[in-house]
Amino acid sequence: MHLPRTALEDWMRDFYFDTSIDLGSSGVQCWSLAELRRLLGITVEELDEIALDDSPSYGGPNLRRAVADRFAAGDTDRVMATHGSTEAIFVVMNALLSAGDEVVVPDPAYHSLTSVAEAIGCRLVRWRLRPETGFTPDLDELRALVTPRTRMIVLNFPHNPTGAHLTRGQFDDLLGLVDGHDLHLVWDAAFAELVYGQEPLPDPSTLHDRCIGLGTMSKAYGLPGTRVGWCLAAPEILARLVPLRDALTICLSPLTEHLAARALTDADLILAIRRAQAARNLDRLAAWAEDNADLVSWTRPSGGVTAFPAVVGVADTEELCRELGRRHDLLLVPGSGFGHPDRVRLGFGGAEDAFGEGLARLHKALVERRGTL
Ligand SMILES: Cc1ncc(COP(=O)(O)O)c(C=O)c1O
Repeated sequence: MHLPRTALEDWMRDFYFDTSIDLGSSGVQCWSLAELRRLLGITVEELDEIALDDSPSYGGPNLRRAVADRFAAGDTDRVMATHGSTEAIFVVMNALLSAGDEVVVPDPAYHSLTSVAEAIGCRLVRWRLRPETGFTPDLDELRALVTPRTRMIVLNFPHNPTGAHLTRGQFDDLLGLVDGHDLHLVWDAAFAELVYGQEPLPDPSTLHDRCIGLGTMSKAYGLPGTRVGWCLAAPEILARLVPLRDALTICLSPLTEHLAARALTDADLILAIRRAQAARNLDRLAAWAEDNADLVSWTRPSGGVTAFPAVVGVADTEELCRELGRRHDLLLVPGSGFGHPDRVRLGFGGAEDAFGEGLARLHKALVERRGTL
């Protein structure tokens, strides 16, 4: 299996750790262990009791219970904890797909949602989210791409990088589409709980046995360092993932499983803080974009913490983003990694002061750039 290098991860390797202002990544502001312990009342004694042993293959019972109660209608048999949703994407695709299968994927897409299926040898059929319609999903276009040869539909809503989302009506239509075909729906719900102006959608795995839901502590929960994610599916599907799990990671750490379980059990305590912060940043970004309509053009995201604006007059933003990293100490991600070189991925999940400073630096750089043209 040959996996290509990914432009997004290469960019993050170069700039994520070496810039002090983050206007590019796709999660909310991370929590420190001290903050987490204070908010959730996690005691040192409680942590001291954890044996640094292996965890069970499907994840520890407390974590599976917490995930199931929040996302899987309480059914722990439908939960497997994974090493981030990254492992879930990899094992689900490798267990369920074979070379030559047709797989419908979004375009643009987060890299591993397409690269893993492609490396298996699948034929990718791209469902385009189009800039000219503000990346609004068109279910009729999706329907037209699904044929009797389609073995999997892979979706990610709220969508990275555009922030596009499905309405509840579109979601119900999607389930109808799954019902009428012999395929699996892989539903990457990394940003499920980061929505603005609508309720989070349910996980489709609770509604249909051929739907598989993927989730993570990395985005809405601000805990990417736990490397805890999960896969929600019918028990027969989860059983097919075990051999891959055994070959890749065996199990997760009981320490980070414990932190994740505690965070999910009292999710509303930590979610509400970061979601409100992201919503304020989004309003600020909207005002900034309106003031700078001569510099950027964008569509306001409905979910997630990334927007995908075009930079006016710039056909390829890579050099601009490199310059922002090197001279302005600012992380911004070029759209080339998502197939739209005229755009940038702009993350608005960060600390409010830093976010404001980031927008000011971006404005300065764009104005300076325009002056030199
Ligand atoms: C849509 C989407 N899915 C999956 C992932 C993988 O995240 P993790 O492995 O940290 O859960 C990301 C990370 O950016 C993402 O944006």
